[in-house]
Amino acid sequence: MSAQYTDLMSLDDTFEGEVVRVEHGDKNLAVYSVNGEIYCTDNLCTHGNALLSDGFLEGFEIECPFHQGRFDIRDGRVTCEPASKAVKSYPIKVSDGRVFVDLS
Ligand code: FES
Repeated sequence: MSAQYTDLMSLDDTFEGEVVRVEHGDKNLAVYSVNGEIYCTDNLCTHGNALLSDGFLEGFEIECPFHQGRFDIRDGRVTCEPASKAVKSYPIKVSDGRVFVDLS
């Protein structure tokens, strides 16, 4: 399937080294800003009912606030148990001060 980018948010609503929660349609997303790049994953941890946007971002890793499972925000892969299933990550483009996401 070809990429379908939709307007997600203003770049001004992202903050270097931080994660923000973004609701988009029926999606609850976590949007991260690291080293001037924007990354996006599903917000719900794959291990339980916790929001990654409430967790702790360190480098390219987000730590879940419930059991300290960790995910790489660049591709969603698990980097620390007890999480065992990758979180979905989404391609991002930035243009004219807007953040676009491909949710397809
Ligand atoms: Fe996220 Fe358990 S709910 S690691």
